[in-house]
Amino acid sequence: MPHFLLDNQRIEFRDGETVLQAAARHGVTIPHLCWKDGCDARTSCMVCLVRRCDTGAFVPSCALPAAEGLAVESETPDVLAMRREAMELLLGDHLGDCEAPCRKAHPASLDIPAILRVVATDELDLAATILSNSAGALATLDETKYEKACRRARHDAPVNIAGILQFLAAKTGATESPAAVTPKTRLSTTIPISAIDLPTAVKATAADRPRNETIDSLDDAMAEAARCMHCDCRDAKDCSLRLWAEHLDANPNARKAPHRQWQLVVGEHAVFEPGKCIQCGLCVEVANSHGKDLGPTWHGRGFDLSAAAPLGRNATDPFNDPALAAALIEACPTGAIAK
Ligand code: SF4
Ligand code: SF4
Ligand code: FES
Repeated sequence: MPHFLLDNQRIEFRDGETVLQAAARHGVTIPHLCWKDGCDARTSCMVCLVRRCDTGAFVPSCALPAAEGLAVESETPDVLAMRREAMELLLGDHLGDCEAPCRKAHPASLDIPAILRVVATDELDLAATILSNSAGALATLDETKYEKACRRARHDAPVNIAGILQFLAAKTGATESPAAVTPKTRLSTTIPISAIDLPTAVKATAADRPRNETIDSLDDAMAEAARCMHCDCRDAKDCSLRLWAEHLDANPNARKAPHRQWQLVVGEHAVFEPGKCIQCGLCVEVANSHGKDLGPTWHGRGFDLSAAAPLGRNATDPFNDPALAAALIEACPTGAIAK
């Protein structure tokens, strides 16, 4: 079988395979964001760069045909530095929170938005499990200082997080689980508060009612939890952008030059946050193969290029179709299109 060399490792390839595909079949995953199995290479992200040993050129492995006699470097310091630079350019224009401000400020890094989501839908047992599994969280129930970080405070008043947690602990009798863990600090990007249109955010994601100071009943807790704007990324756990950025040790602030304003499109089956889009084009290709002309498609040029519903359609149309929305969520490598 024909083969090429990847960091001096012999990689056999099949007819038509790229370096990235053949390497993946041999269990060697090269970082990638804009390539997906079954789609054409778009070469927009450049985090899959490898270096050709014959010419010394850095080339995207997702578009480099595997060839007999080819030798490339993948895990060398030069290649990793180039990938990191490509990643930092993407992060520099990435407008989005990986973690919510309340969670970052909480003394036990409690996943507050996750708890509030399930309290708002009357899933108290699930909320209690999150609380019990967070090391040290139950010992912080009387603290309220972290509430100052709540983004909703800039609009009217912070969510009464402490009141909800105290009610939850008392109602469910939650105790710390022996398996409770302190979450590891992970790479996180942040939206500057000036970039957010808070009235729109509240209207799109949260109940527009005043803070309830006293949480005495389940109805109180559910209503107050519904005031949460869910500032955390819906895809925080398995976002490929975050995953590869951590892998490459990229600094999200190395090339900070955000020129976008925060926007949120809330569809019936998916939420679209254009600030998190890296213009990879996978959603456009998936939408085209879907054949319903619902989008997303490209708008604008250069720095203003963005994926959105086609002209004449509602911004939510691509995200209201259940099958298309599921395919878009699956294809999008960032939290730009998420559940
Ligand atoms: S609005 Fe919700 S997610 Fe955002 S900071 Fe406040 S409690 Fe946290
Ligand atoms: S929305 Fe997601 S899939 Fe579409 S271009 Fe942006 S990052 Fe890529
Ligand atoms: S995955 Fe190759 S350039 Fe994006």
